[in-house]
Amino acid sequence: MDRMFVFAKPSLMVADPELIKQILVKDFHSFRNRPITKDNHKITSKLMNYARNDDWKRVRAIVTPTFSSAKMRQLYAPINRCCNDFLKSLDKDVSNGVNEVELKRLMGAYTMDVMASCAFATKTNTYADPNNPFITKANNVFSSFIWKTVLQVTLPTFIVNTSIFRRIVMTNYSDVDFFIDFARSIIKKRRDNKEKHNDFLQLLMDVERPEGDIREASDANEAHHVNEGKDEMKAYAEAFTGVLEKKLTEDEILAQCFQFFGPGYESVAITLSYCTYELALNPGLQDRLYEETKEAFNEKGEMDYEVLSRLPFIHSLLSETLRNYPPTLRLQREAMGDVMLGDTGVKIEKGVSVEIPVYAIHHDPDYYPDPFTFNPDRFMPENRDHIQPYTYLPFGSGPRNCIGMRFALLEAKLVLANISQKFLFSRVTDTDVPVIFTNGRALCQAKRLVVGIQKR
Ligand code: HEM
Repeated sequence: MDRMFVFAKPSLMVADPELIKQILVKDFHSFRNRPITKDNHKITSKLMNYARNDDWKRVRAIVTPTFSSAKMRQLYAPINRCCNDFLKSLDKDVSNGVNEVELKRLMGAYTMDVMASCAFATKTNTYADPNNPFITKANNVFSSFIWKTVLQVTLPTFIVNTSIFRRIVMTNYSDVDFFIDFARSIIKKRRDNKEKHNDFLQLLMDVERPEGDIREASDANEAHHVNEGKDEMKAYAEAFTGVLEKKLTEDEILAQCFQFFGPGYESVAITLSYCTYELALNPGLQDRLYEETKEAFNEKGEMDYEVLSRLPFIHSLLSETLRNYPPTLRLQREAMGDVMLGDTGVKIEKGVSVEIPVYAIHHDPDYYPDPFTFNPDRFMPENRDHIQPYTYLPFGSGPRNCIGMRFALLEAKLVLANISQKFLFSRVTDTDVPVIFTNGRALCQAKRLVVGIQKR
């Protein structure tokens, strides 16, 4: 446990697993919010990530069913189509002599196409036309969103709250408006023509919060090491009691689509890049992935959602990638009142922010022996019991964990299974070993991730 100041704001760093459980689960009612200042934009101020108190509770309760495992089955087909387009384009490039790829760019093109298809019902053609406004504007928005968020969190409140800060830093929203206007026109068209499509926008337009438990029983089967014990269930049930509304407003629908597009695009691209980088360095792991997934495709060359979600090696490979390179380096919560932290004698005062250093915990040798060695076997079924609860947190934990976890895993597993059947990756002169990380407090970013590629 460490006390610190992020400029003028008091902050407490907590890394003990029991205390983390207290903050994220047992005392969730006191740590429901993130310490992020809201912005003034009509739509982005409604993003789930920034929402606070009852606003967050209502939006999250209504949106949760759109991420159930049943809904993920519905989105399998559009993701599969994006995956096939991606492989076709890569095949063409390699046939034309490409023998090295920069993974962040490569995987970013795939995840951009998936999010545009699944959130905004739009094919971006990212591979043939990287200057498509959809892509350039998305890059502007999301790269600037990260530094704006960092500025908001790190600068003293008296600066963040000035009108000059808001005018210069927070109100350049023309690229955001591009997406909002675009999605608004799609909603209008669908309503006018009574059209239905298979994407998030439609799920959000149609969703009605069910009575009782907002999660489905089958969701727990795909929980990805998220703890689902008695305390977690209780916290979950309590977190969403008293929500009366059943539907989102149009502005809220637009905000959630936009939100999915941002973290969805970047975090999955980062995960896939590091995973492929490790495959390039470890040919033995590439062979294991190839053998496991080869068996799982049917005679039409397709793989069932159920089969894919239960393959142990691909699951362990992604888990180890997310342990070694967690895209979100730290979790944040803000105390809503004074809280005593376990039996430490430490009082967290109202308004203090708490940070959980995910990257550091994932590299603590007490929890993960030889932590800088990439070893997916740590997560194979026979070893999973060795993982101490609340020491594996790539998607956070508790009622405010990552809502997109199942979607992210599906999107990543599908492309890894397919790519491993067709291509081999290898270490080349430009492959940085070890990875050269860029400075940044928000995301686990590498300067570049270059590997060799050839057809199998
Ligand atoms: C490998 C990919 C991803 C990783 C590692 C990741 C990680 C995270 C983490 C660490 C959090 C904070 C959790 C906490 O504070 O306890 C989060 C929140 C969130 N994520 Fe993800 N994420 C990923 C992909 C996605 C995708 C694909 C979507 C949407 C389609 C998404 C949507 C969200 C949203 C909306 C929140 C805010 C939830 C809330 O405040 O209630 N994420 N994510």
